[in-house]
Amino acid sequence: MFKVETAKFFFLSEKMGVSGLFLWFWRKKRIRALINSRREKQFKKIEATILALPDSEVIKRVAEDLSLNGIAKAHISEFDGMPSLEKMKESYETLLITEGSNPHDRKGKSFIERLIDDDYSINTKGDPLSAYLLNPGIAMACAKYLELIPKLTSFKVWRSHQIELQERTASQNWHRDYNEYQMVRVFCYFNDVTSDNGAGEYIRGSHFKGDSFDKLQDSQDGLSRYSTDKDVQSLFPNERIAVAEGIAGTLFFMDTAGLHRGGFHPEPGERRVSLTTFSTAADLQPTRIRKPKNLNHTLPLMDDVLV
Ligand SMILES: [Fe+2]
Repeated sequence: MFKVETAKFFFLSEKMGVSGLFLWFWRKKRIRALINSRREKQFKKIEATILALPDSEVIKRVAEDLSLNGIAKAHISEFDGMPSLEKMKESYETLLITEGSNPHDRKGKSFIERLIDDDYSINTKGDPLSAYLLNPGIAMACAKYLELIPKLTSFKVWRSHQIELQERTASQNWHRDYNEYQMVRVFCYFNDVTSDNGAGEYIRGSHFKGDSFDKLQDSQDGLSRYSTDKDVQSLFPNERIAVAEGIAGTLFFMDTAGLHRGGFHPEPGERRVSLTTFSTAADLQPTRIRKPKNLNHTLPLMDDVLV
């Protein structure tokens, strides 16, 4: 994949003082195109099928909003064949009880209880969380935006809440996720969420297809670093900030390669949320969730989404 001439080019460029950041992006862009090409071709083959689905209107709207802003809002009830909100809430309650008796590690983010931390087995028995994950509408909205068949790489269910430390910490500060140029993280709310109880924020247009992907790209090595409020305010007017507020059942689709910050809890309260990540083939992170057996017979559209 990497020719000697390419290696020489990088070596000389680095000697001549061309910025490491520029080189890192150039390198990634070239490799990305190669790795993603198979999934791009798969998408072109099934694009007409997607647009004939009963929920094609919401699929198209989400993809368009993502392309324009890097963020889109919908509700689970808009997607065909989705489990009811009541059933989803019941599943969440069961997870809370299990977590109470056998808690996960909070991994340094003490404001997050991790009810599922990529340790979930998707099944075809119709249980609500599996039915949610196997719903092709959500995956196909991400496919249309990414213009390729994405991989579902991660599924987490969280309860975030206020802790004694009331300053923003870790991912509650502005940052980009450096998995790839583009990715979609889908947030599903199991309760009503406002900026008082953990709504995340996003800078519209800071994604790859937007006008500000080059702003606050503060990583030279694929590691996320945090930007301050002052950095963000000096570059973006307030109207560019989308606050992910919504009632229970709301879905936020967010390209988190754009600038965002996670839920903060200025007041006592909780946010009940799941996070599903749809990535390109060129994502740097390992896939943490696997598909159930015989899925291709029942849900061909999801056959390549789950690996
Ligand atoms: Fe993030």
